[in-house]
Amino acid sequence: MKTNAIRIREYGGPDVLEYVEVDLPEPGPGEATLRHTAIGLNFIDTYHRTGLYPMELPTGLGSEAAGVVEAVGAGVDGVAPGDRVVYTGRPADSYSERRNFPAWQLVPIPDDVDDDIAAASLLKGLTAWYLLRRSYPVEAGDAVLLYAAAGGVGSIASQWGKHLGATVIGVVSTDAKAELARAQGCDHIIMADSDDIPGQVRALTDGEGVAAAYDSIGRDTFFTSLDSLRPHGVMVTFGNASGPVDPFAPAELAKRHSLYVTRPVLFDFIDTRERLLNAAEELFGVLSSGAVKVSVNQRYPLADAAQAHRDLEGRKTTGSTVLLP
Ligand SMILES: NC(=O)c1ccc[n+]([C@@H]2O[C@H](COP(=O)([O-])OP(=O)(O)OC[C@H]3O[C@@H](n4cnc5c(N)ncnc54)[C@H](OP(=O)(O)O)[C@@H]3O)[C@@H](O)[C@H]2O)c1
Repeated sequence: MKTNAIRIREYGGPDVLEYVEVDLPEPGPGEATLRHTAIGLNFIDTYHRTGLYPMELPTGLGSEAAGVVEAVGAGVDGVAPGDRVVYTGRPADSYSERRNFPAWQLVPIPDDVDDDIAAASLLKGLTAWYLLRRSYPVEAGDAVLLYAAAGGVGSIASQWGKHLGATVIGVVSTDAKAELARAQGCDHIIMADSDDIPGQVRALTDGEGVAAAYDSIGRDTFFTSLDSLRPHGVMVTFGNASGPVDPFAPAELAKRHSLYVTRPVLFDFIDTRERLLNAAEELFGVLSSGAVKVSVNQRYPLADAAQAHRDLEGRKTTGSTVLLP
């Protein structure tokens, strides 16, 4: 069978994305063939495109999509043709009309969740889940610092953090994003270009600092985050929007009063079907109760994925973005 998909033959800017026709073989053992209905856009797609996270070239792109199962390979018993499913994972090839994918990683979409919301929620929502429930499990009354609070992960994490009883201090770059982040549960907003984020954090926390900093910005904010933590606070550095964090001396943690640093990756928290489905159940639970609302604020045709990358890297998007095949 033939299908249309994005391919990259070299690392680079958004212009390396090519929309081409490719061959799609029958599903192999343990695989399902999916017809995508909505594809999630994620910042990790830009790391794959630039080679920050190396891939074998040529390659597809994309780590999240919703769709319908069209066929299954030998040994698949968890899903059947006609099922609505959503997934996140590798190999990266979600930017496609159809693909084959390991069936154990397919999550059934609840009846009350639309396909585009599912594609906008799984990778970012499970990330918010492990950040707040595993990397530093938030307790009611904790103050936490969250960057890109109006972005994809940030929009979900701010609502979920609030739902868990935290005081959420969000960092954003524009007034419009500040308004959005406040509406999504951030108690306080600090502007990203502030020259004293730690000072503002301390002013907002009676001089103490935050219990955890959820930092997706990376290189530019690493020490800003450490300086914002309370003694024994937890630095969760989970992204590279400004570039990867430079090497640092452990003594930096000692002199700021026994801090912890973790550098987590979503896929380590959902590495078995049981862990994946349990995490997804928690996510769909907060969506269905209304505690967390996921907004698809940008939609692009799949063939325009390059423009979606430009807008994401240009800090023009808010909430979630989907590509439509
Ligand atoms: N480790 C993991 O398991 C994992 C999983 C998922 C996502 N992530 C990370 O989580 C972050 C958010 O992902 P997302 O897909 O939801 O993206 P996003 O937050 O919707 O977009 C990135 C945001 O980062 C902010 N930003 C700050 N400095 C930037 C810069 N120099 N260039 C571009 N953006 C900058 C911008 O918000 P402002 O304009 O408001 O500053 C921008 O909107 C990414 O860093 C991603 O790598 C990590």
